Amino acid sequence: MTTSSPGSPIAPYVHRRVPLDLGGRRLEFATCLDLFSSHQVDVGSRLLLRTMEPVLAERDTEASARVLDLGCGYGALGVALATMPAVASAHLVDRDALAVDFAAENARANGVEVTTSVSLGLAEVLRDTPEARYDLVASNLPGKAGAAVLSSMLLGALGVLAPGGLVAVVVIEPIRDLVASTLAREDLEVTLRRDTADYSVFHYRPAANASFPPPTDAFAAGAYDRGTLPFEDANEQPATITTVEGIPNYDRIDVIEDALTRRIPRIRAGQRVLVSNVAQGYLPAYVRSAQPEAHLILVDRDVLALRTARRALLALGAAEDRVETRVIGAWSEASAADAGANLVVGVLHEGGGAPAVVAEHVGLVATLAPGGRAVLAGGSTAITRLLAHKLPADCKASRTKHRGTSFLEVTRAP
Ligand SMILES: C[S@@+](CC[C@H](N)C(=O)[O-])C[C@H]1O[C@@H](n2cnc3c(N)ncnc32)[C@H](O)[C@@H]1O
Repeated sequence: MTTSSPGSPIAPYVHRRVPLDLGGRRLEFATCLDLFSSHQVDVGSRLLLRTMEPVLAERDTEASARVLDLGCGYGALGVALATMPAVASAHLVDRDALAVDFAAENARANGVEVTTSVSLGLAEVLRDTPEARYDLVASNLPGKAGAAVLSSMLLGALGVLAPGGLVAVVVIEPIRDLVASTLAREDLEVTLRRDTADYSVFHYRPAANASFPPPTDAFAAGAYDRGTLPFEDANEQPATITTVEGIPNYDRIDVIEDALTRRIPRIRAGQRVLVSNVAQGYLPAYVRSAQPEAHLILVDRDVLALRTARRALLALGAAEDRVETRVIGAWSEASAADAGANLVVGVLHEGGGAPAVVAEHVGLVATLAPGGRAVLAGGSTAITRLLAHKLPADCKASRTKHRGTSFLEVTRAP
């Protein structure tokens, strides 16, 4: 019943298909090694769904509930909820575009209609549909988001509820007390709490007569900020970037990115430089210091990384019209083929398995303008495999090595 279409961009990223049995209905989800809970539908998500079923069953038999799945991953919660008779519509969002691609494909493969979008917390949901209100906001909340981000998600969800709406979340045991204390407020009512050894579920809603306005943008308010990261730029000048929670290397320069900066060729004014996998923004900031007149195209699957890197560049004096951001989840040849990049630099994602690395490589090479060059960092095995991969006739590839890291250089003929 649930095969993902062979032409689907997620195909190279699929690790396996996992089942979810829901009161007689069997759903199946394509998962990815690089997404949450790739071996089975998470036990916490199942627990949350079990607590939702009676709540939804109490509603009119007519499908009327509008559902938001906040942090949808590959779609287990949102797609399952969308199959329930009381649910009229489901919108699934995640900060990770690869998760969103999987969620959309999993809905399609299970014959369920949902809408999906990339959103950092509720920011893009509110930007794109400021008036949208939900009867149910469901979330298996990230366990390592940090207190400020967690609070912005827990309380922000109340601000997008329709009258009579409910928020239902599941969290892992290490953050259960933090969640309980965040929800211990007079202006909200916890209507259900269920604890197991490893998880806690909370259902809650505004207290009678209380109202929560739509939340402000948590990123802009600094909820994600972690600290500052000093570095020496391409002109050997000291510079800093503001780092965020939830992305590695908030307090040190990543050694692979650092080695990559030593391989950046001369960039001329006006050239288009695509930086892939921007992480905390160090690589784009370094590139900009090498050539302030370059046009930067920042590409990442994580909208948090894109916002962090863009903010770093603007803080370092980059003009807004020289910084473009593109969120790309599953790569294909067509993902950014219009980029016309003179230079591509980036660290390959290897967590999704070998075919996913090939898909990303093919997509990145397709962004090169005539005469363009790509410098990509990766593990030795991955680069060996990519060297064996057939490139377009006008492209040539070579490899250099530095300690444990290999660098693949691809040039396109002028
Ligand atoms: C615990 S996983 C749950 C995934 C999925 N709902 C499930 O049940 O399998 C949390 C998800 O939230 C996403 N996430 C983390 N922080 C987020 C944020 N600030 N905004 C949106 N999504 C976020 C992660 O990418 C991840 O997919």
